[in-house]
Amino acid sequence: MDAEGGAKIAVIVVAAGSGERLGFGMAKAKVPLGGEPMLSHTLRGVLAADVAGQICVAVPRGDTELRGICEALGAGTAAGPVMTVVDGGATRAESVRAALAALQPGVTSVLVQDAARPLTPAEVYHRVAGALAAGALAVIPALAVTDTVKCVAPAEPAGAGIASEVVRSTPDRAQLRSVQTPQGFALPTLRRAHEGAAGLTAEQAAALTDDAMLVEAAGVEVYVVKGSASSLKITGPWDLLLAEALLAGPLAPRWVEG
Ligand code: CTP
Ligand code: MG
Repeated sequence: MDAEGGAKIAVIVVAAGSGERLGFGMAKAKVPLGGEPMLSHTLRGVLAADVAGQICVAVPRGDTELRGICEALGAGTAAGPVMTVVDGGATRAESVRAALAALQPGVTSVLVQDAARPLTPAEVYHRVAGALAAGALAVIPALAVTDTVKCVAPAEPAGAGIASEVVRSTPDRAQLRSVQTPQGFALPTLRRAHEGAAGLTAEQAAALTDDAMLVEAAGVEVYVVKGSASSLKITGPWDLLLAEALLAGPLAPRWVEG
């Protein structure tokens, strides 16, 4: 707890991925967006949200360029949050664990943000931090799903000449959510969940696409707050086009967030 008796929040930014699907041949956090590396946008977003006492960034092992971006932004905010940089791991979960190990004493809550979501608005950080302050042990921002989603399975040999997959079921779309970051947790809750995941096989670890799934598996109630279309994850080239358009602002006059 801080002097005001509130939670002391750290924001972990995971930026150690290689960006295979974006196809720039460089760590995704370095890929230019609006003429600057993606990580600069993400970190400025965290600073603008003004919720963190510490920002802990996981960068690819030995990457001096991304480390330099963090240190420069940290130095520019002398009275602001402590900036810590750690070497990330081979999976997202390992990167989160490396950052968890470098949090300052006194941190009580943690928000985990993908560096690959450079345009997350401050309101989303505030909604997540607000739910933690109201007593949630785990909270995620999410949006309604607009596509119909199907569960599929490999086609049986007889049908495999027609197509490789068949539909098994159609979940009720009204109950589905597309999940974003920052995901917020009471620090002991996230630490315990990640300790439990440290012994997973490489395949199991690669399937951990967010932190909430670990916490869910531990039986903790995960609360859902409203995310934002601006908080899109840059995965492939289309996403980068959309992010460039959002940054340039041409959608603003005719785009009202639902
Ligand atoms: N991440 C990380 N450490 C890893 C893998 C991923 O810190 N070993 C981070 C990424 O930097 C990104 C977030 O987790 O901010 C979400 O991952 P993803 O979108 O999959 O990014 P990449 O792994 O970089 O992309 P790809 O899977 O296409 O290689
Ligand atoms: Mg990845």
